[in-house]
Amino acid sequence: MSETGEPTPIAVLASGRGSNFEALLRSVQTGQVPARIVALVSDQAEAPVLAKARAAGIPALVVPGRPSEMSATDWKEQPIEQRRREHDRRVLEALAPHAPKWLIMAGYMRMVSPVLIGAFRSERGYVRIVNIHPSLLPAFPGVGSYGQAFRHGAQVAGVTVHLVEEEMDSGPICAQEAFSIRGMKSEEEVEKRGLEIEHRLFPETLKWLLKEQFRIEKREERLCVSES
Ligand code: GRF
Repeated sequence: MSETGEPTPIAVLASGRGSNFEALLRSVQTGQVPARIVALVSDQAEAPVLAKARAAGIPALVVPGRPSEMSATDWKEQPIEQRRREHDRRVLEALAPHAPKWLIMAGYMRMVSPVLIGAFRSERGYVRIVNIHPSLLPAFPGVGSYGQAFRHGAQVAGVTVHLVEEEMDSGPICAQEAFSIRGMKSEEEVEKRGLEIEHRLFPETLKWLLKEQFRIEKREERLCVSES
């Protein structure tokens, strides 16, 4: 809910299956999260999440990882930072008519550039982009984090919701939940339990985060603490 009492317009960025998108959609529909999902953006034209958004009547936009008018060879010749910036410019262009106030990254498998970060930086300094990551950050950043925890023989795994900054899987931590994986027999078992937590923790966190009544506490890193 914004200061005006209107539901906050949010856009979801997702690259794949979309189980977090579905959980978020449910929480918006039941009123748990006072928001309006104005668009879903995916970088993958075949991502199952697109159909889920369309079925709910939400504009589902594809902004491919490589612009269709460019050959793979020409695209690869550009430095990675430039490719990221170019992609983010296209994301912003696609989102412009829908005017989201917040971006929600729910299984978005890309790093964002200063273009997106700058466009969503609030007047209070933090960035209005939030991500869910399947580990207890700063442990196991990157991809396949449930698998990383399992393969390392860790006894706990976890889920982190954090505000986004330029460096991968960094930015103020908003919420975190650990769970025991002692005795679990496979990565799939860890992921199944983790996703159950994600689907509850993400909406719970967005509920207070979108009100923007929090402060960022500085330690060695930063922490996003609810004030309500
Ligand atoms: C989740 O585990 C999320 O934490 C990670 O990617 C996965 C996406 O799953 N960032 P889904 O597409 O939401 O089902």
